[in-house]
Amino acid sequence: MQFDTPATTNPIDNLKVVGQPIHRIDGQLKTTGRAMYAYEWHDPNMRYAYGYPVGAAIAKGRITSMDVSAAKRAPGVLAVVTTLDVGERKKGKFNTAKLFGGDEVQHYHQAIAVVVAETFEQARAAAALVKVDYAEEEGAFDLGQAKDSAVKPDESQQPDTATGNFEDAFTSAPVTLDATYTTPDQSHAMMEPHASIAAWNGDEVTVWTSSQMIDWWRSDLATTLDIDKEKIHLMSPFIGGGFGGKLFLRADAVLAVVGARAVKRPVKVALPRPLLINNTTHRPATIQRIRIGTEGDGKITAIAHESWSGDLPGGGLETAVNQTRLLYAGANRMTAMRLATLHLPEGNAMRAPGEAPGLMALEIAIDEIAEKVGIDPVQFRIVNDTQIDPEKPQRRFSQRNLIGCLKLGAERFGWRERGKPGSRRDGNWLVGMGVAVAFRNNLVLPSGARVKLDREGVVTVETDMTDIGTGSYTIIAQTAAEMMGVAIDKVAVQLGDSRFPVSAGSGGQFGANSSTSGVYAACVKLREAIAKKLGFNSEDIVFENGEVRSGNRSVPLAEAAGPDGLVGEDTIKWGELTETHQQSTFGAHFVEVGVDIATGESRIRRMLAVCAAGRILNPITARSQVIGAMTMGAGGALSEELAVDTRRGFFVNHDLASYEVAVHADIPHQEVIFMDETDPMSSPMKAKGVGELGLCGVAAAIANAVYNATGVRVRHYPLTLDKLI
Ligand code: MOS
Repeated sequence: MQFDTPATTNPIDNLKVVGQPIHRIDGQLKTTGRAMYAYEWHDPNMRYAYGYPVGAAIAKGRITSMDVSAAKRAPGVLAVVTTLDVGERKKGKFNTAKLFGGDEVQHYHQAIAVVVAETFEQARAAAALVKVDYAEEEGAFDLGQAKDSAVKPDESQQPDTATGNFEDAFTSAPVTLDATYTTPDQSHAMMEPHASIAAWNGDEVTVWTSSQMIDWWRSDLATTLDIDKEKIHLMSPFIGGGFGGKLFLRADAVLAVVGARAVKRPVKVALPRPLLINNTTHRPATIQRIRIGTEGDGKITAIAHESWSGDLPGGGLETAVNQTRLLYAGANRMTAMRLATLHLPEGNAMRAPGEAPGLMALEIAIDEIAEKVGIDPVQFRIVNDTQIDPEKPQRRFSQRNLIGCLKLGAERFGWRERGKPGSRRDGNWLVGMGVAVAFRNNLVLPSGARVKLDREGVVTVETDMTDIGTGSYTIIAQTAAEMMGVAIDKVAVQLGDSRFPVSAGSGGQFGANSSTSGVYAACVKLREAIAKKLGFNSEDIVFENGEVRSGNRSVPLAEAAGPDGLVGEDTIKWGELTETHQQSTFGAHFVEVGVDIATGESRIRRMLAVCAAGRILNPITARSQVIGAMTMGAGGALSEELAVDTRRGFFVNHDLASYEVAVHADIPHQEVIFMDETDPMSSPMKAKGVGELGLCGVAAAIANAVYNATGVRVRHYPLTLDKLI
């Protein structure tokens, strides 16, 4: 199905199941431990062996020799496969750094060997016996130092935009701000580490893994190991979080496949947490300069956002200026992004790549300029709202109710109680409130599904879509139930298997809208097949209560399916609407913090997010996405930072004891409100994404609340207590 005209009334407008607060259909499997995650997959007929990875101890250079003799002699060891044995390999399309193979070391803890043994403990013990000699080379590890050598990347990365004349407008503006902000390297820190099991059968290999994107992984595994893609079967039915860290093929899958080939047995490999953080990807640090000029009434006349980030050679930008191109009005504007070469581990997508760190800076800057011009920060944002793309005035937003989010949020949060900086006190605590806008573009990807109706009247959906904890199983079941007119317990959902039609996968907050649209398209096909078989007139056909009706005839679906059942399969494809209309999601975050007057320690007291993101497919799972994202934003504001060893080139705090993420106990009160809206331009589902929106702006709202509490403006994340005292 090609989606190229705005959705009008369609079969799911009269909603019975979609939009309902239905609990996760996979929830029981997960809470009772029956949902098998990658490493837990167990077939009693298989004799599993265990692989333990060895990571490079330098950041840049070459391996001159490896001595694995002691490791091979260790108890239980079946094989040691080294990067030198495997030799030079092609890189996957989505990987910047190679994962395994050859003598070159591109970053610290790059995989250089896998030791396979009868038990996990034996493999781990033997891995410590591998001896490696390196020829170490100098690398660049400090973004601050590398900033001046940063270059403009090629146009495919869209580094620059300019509208009007920023310099002139900024120079002549009566009120101006020129400030620089920094955001640190961050880690996804998902609960389930990367893990894979590989089992060969002749020249075919099955890999159980933890992947957000089944088809990308399958293609890149084929490229990396020179295996025919058709010979690779990938399974990832349950995933313990990804946040972008599992978008792209990782070393665990490669090591499991080569290890299993070496020992001719199925091999399990998990990346140990202390290796994972430097071995995989992270969100790159940024330096961001923002200049804003306004009239005395607060209208922005000039806005510029420049950002510097670093990555390995061949890598990409952290696109921190993206929201500034679209968020506020203003005739004269410019954005620019520059990329430095750093030999740290690969920088790549982490939840809301671009907008999350971009808004960390921009939304403090907006707070600062609003104060300078003497306008309430909620009002300042309302004054500078735009309904058109400020860089391309012929493009309107498909929907944009940012003002509604701000107004409703201010009212519900009690914004009028906010005082002047440093003016509210509660015992030993200085108390303040902050606001920031949430903005994230709405992306879509093609997404396929197969829907089967069987003789029992059960509808089974098959798609390689993944559920990274987001609720994909549930919203897909809701979509199929709605479309086929059956109760949700008559729908079975099968996900995360490369034998199923290729879906959008989970990423970029495109998963929910794209994958349910794919299921919608497949259900349309199944409905047509049923109508055709029964000879029903498709004009007046109704699917309801497990029956299909037309005219005065009505047939139970089980009967319509017949003994062999019926199948519908299709892929949603996206036409021009995403080009002609700017599609984005919006929100407003309100935060109240207390800052200890003696220690400078910041504590969140309460948070509210109001989101406008099209049709909300399931308010329970959507809310979970937003409160999880708000929690992640709290970590981003107050504690999360990968500390760089700028001499040796690695992240020092590479475990969860020292990379400090926020937890439930850090946020005593959290609320989420969704605006009641549908977006007919976004998809037949009229939905958008919320999974990343919830993170965007949170950290700035916290930073602005800390400023309101203390009167101390911190422009460098995280806002640890040393920066307040
Ligand atoms: Mo997201 S960073 O595209 O998983």
